Amino acid sequence: MASQRKLHGTWASRWTFILAATGSAVGLGNIWKFPYITGENGGGAFVLVYLLCIALVGIPIMIAEVLIGRRGRQSPINSMRDLALEAGLPKFWGGIGWMGVVAGFLILSFYSVIAGWALHYVFAMADGSFQNITGASSGARFETLLSNKNELIMWHSLFIIMTIGVVIGGVTKGLGNAVRVLMPLLFVLLIVLLIYAVKQGDFMAGFNFLFSFNADKLTWNGVLIALGHAFFTLSLGMGAIMAYGAYMPSEASLSKTVITVGILDTLIALVAGLAIFPVVFATQGIEPSAGPGLLFVSLPVAFGNMPGGLIFGVVFFVLIAIAAWSSAISLIEPGVAYLVESKRFSRLSANILLGFLAWLLGLGTVLSFNDWAEFKPFFGMTMFDFLDYLTANIMLPLCGLLIAIFVGWFMRREHVRKELHVESQAFFDRWFWVVRYVSPVLVGFVFIMLLFGDQI
Ligand code: PHE
Ligand code: NA
Repeated sequence: MASQRKLHGTWASRWTFILAATGSAVGLGNIWKFPYITGENGGGAFVLVYLLCIALVGIPIMIAEVLIGRRGRQSPINSMRDLALEAGLPKFWGGIGWMGVVAGFLILSFYSVIAGWALHYVFAMADGSFQNITGASSGARFETLLSNKNELIMWHSLFIIMTIGVVIGGVTKGLGNAVRVLMPLLFVLLIVLLIYAVKQGDFMAGFNFLFSFNADKLTWNGVLIALGHAFFTLSLGMGAIMAYGAYMPSEASLSKTVITVGILDTLIALVAGLAIFPVVFATQGIEPSAGPGLLFVSLPVAFGNMPGGLIFGVVFFVLIAIAAWSSAISLIEPGVAYLVESKRFSRLSANILLGFLAWLLGLGTVLSFNDWAEFKPFFGMTMFDFLDYLTANIMLPLCGLLIAIFVGWFMRREHVRKELHVESQAFFDRWFWVVRYVSPVLVGFVFIMLLFGDQI
């Protein structure tokens, strides 16, 4: 195992891990996806379920994942396989790692297309055409972008190249520093937007939409989406956090580290929601349920109508692109680490292979917004909708469920305790109980209700 550690390197300190894990966690999930799925699922009740999922399922399983990674010290596939063998389980438990790598690859394929939209908006903001824009024309501009597939493909390609460009150089270099500067900046800009939303938007309408509990609009499918999003937003259930855990120094406290990342991620999602919805409610021509375009339609209206807004707008979309970048890196790293460890690839060739395949698959997502918009062979969904649903709502929770069961029931207890040796006994007992009973039961229950339940 020592040689594996040499193969990939370790983080300089616990802080580098926090930064990298935050870089992975904070991304399009917080700023783009969370607001629009909240809008589609009716607001308050959905947000509450999401927060419960973060606390009772996401953070406990995140601790479990980092722990597996740090104990295994290899790519998720090999760590899972070795720990399963060590626990006397059949080899197929290693399949958890495989499922994760596949999920990461599928996510990257569409994540890159959406990140490409953000790249486009950097330039669209800069050319001044959003000055004093209305909701309706902002919507029309977004539609024009979606119908232009060559342009979408161009930005998608650029984003994939940016991603593999970093991963080729190895994750431990460069990334940590970038994230240290950029994440706080992103947060500051979100606060600027929040102030705008308070002053110019319909803040109370936005606030109530996010936080008033209205169970009528919640379905079991909505609960599954909230649960799936808890995994997606914390980068769980696909090995990203496991792979990063493998590079974590052995002395660092897992609980503090993970809870810090979880809180930062949640905070950023909520602030993004509070910045976006007041603008939506104050602007004609935008509905909360606008779907994937919500961020790209509503925020330009805010930027276009505030003093100095276009400059803020440029900076904001640059930061979104960067947040997406630091997440995309962690989507591809598990697969790359595996090819390097076990299939004798160089980092360069592993990146080129996986990057190319994700790019190719991403073309299906590009077409989902134009030529293939009505082509819905996947359970009535476009390819983009299907890949998103399959990964976030099925694969990640399923993988997370298996990870909780593995750590809670099968991994040798003394090994689990050893990775958490700096944690107090009381913390350990509570966490262990949650991972053993609460998280798996909740995830299992949601799956079952989705299959058999109807409206709540
Ligand atoms: N957590 C990232 C986000 O919220 C997305 C992601 C999912 C990254 C899974 C890595 C793994 O944008
Ligand atoms: Na996130």
